[in-house]
Amino acid sequence: MKKIPSIGFGTWELRKEKCTLAVQKALDIGYRHIDTAFNYDNQTATGEAIRGFDRDQLFLTSKVMLSQGDVEVICELSLKELGVDYLDSYLIHWPDRTKPMWQVVEQMERLKRQGKVLQYGVSNFTVSHLNDMKKLKANVFCNQVEFHPYLYQKELWQYCRENHIELVAYRPLGKGKLLEDFTVCQIAKKYQKSSAQILLRWLYQKEIPFVTKASSEVRLRENFSVTDFSLQEEDMLSLDALNQGKRFCNQSWSDFDY
Ligand SMILES: NC(=O)c1ccc[n+]([C@@H]2O[C@H](COP(=O)([O-])OP(=O)(O)OC[C@H]3O[C@@H](n4cnc5c(N)ncnc54)[C@H](OP(=O)(O)O)[C@@H]3O)[C@@H](O)[C@H]2O)c1
Repeated sequence: MKKIPSIGFGTWELRKEKCTLAVQKALDIGYRHIDTAFNYDNQTATGEAIRGFDRDQLFLTSKVMLSQGDVEVICELSLKELGVDYLDSYLIHWPDRTKPMWQVVEQMERLKRQGKVLQYGVSNFTVSHLNDMKKLKANVFCNQVEFHPYLYQKELWQYCRENHIELVAYRPLGKGKLLEDFTVCQIAKKYQKSSAQILLRWLYQKEIPFVTKASSEVRLRENFSVTDFSLQEEDMLSLDALNQGKRFCNQSWSDFDY
């Protein structure tokens, strides 16, 4: 089974040619994990970018909102739009306790058996949601969640490690909001790196795979170059200490208090 690449490219808010170009650039630079979702409205554009690329070398993630309709029907649409036979990772985008989850798990298992999905997982799930999945004996292989120094979800991370669920960090730069943080800037100065590189290195060093988005080639390259230096323990701890439970992604349908 393919491992989730440490450094992934997130495509949220990229559409049409802009998306195709950005994904092509990301692949040229060396990104292999491409993260999209049915509701990003960019799967066709992403499909154009990956056409002709060695499928074995790619790690493709897509996601489905349970409110959007039938999981299997939407999976078929995602495969069609992306122009691929299978997804490496298919995620339930947000928890939705109004839906019969046992049925969704059955559908995910069927997609796996059919080879349309290599692994299935979840996104934005709390420990309680994951416990519910455990009771259903669901083979959840990853949980993609917002994760950065302002939202250092230590307990969730610990739970995931104990239950062999890979935690994947999304919005690792806090959608750019963490780049101006005083501590992050001080550490960046010390290592002569950018704030983005410090934030991404913090995750890389914790062995947490992440998906981040950038539009320009310069930023894409910068974000990919976080493997050739390391942060001293004191700086890792200073970044850990920035935690304030702050979310930059909190939708009306979030269920984070569960
Ligand atoms: N599962 C979920 O519910 C969920 C929710 C949110 C996001 N995600 C995934 O996570 C991915 C990443 O999250 P995100 O896009 O929200 O936020 P992010 O990666 O934390 O930040 C992206 C923002 O930072 C800027 N940026 C990127 N690299 C930079 C650099 N080196 N220097 C300065 N600015 C930089 C980008 O600007 P430019 O684009 O202008 O370069 C963009 O505005 C998404 O694309 C999506 O795939 C998943």
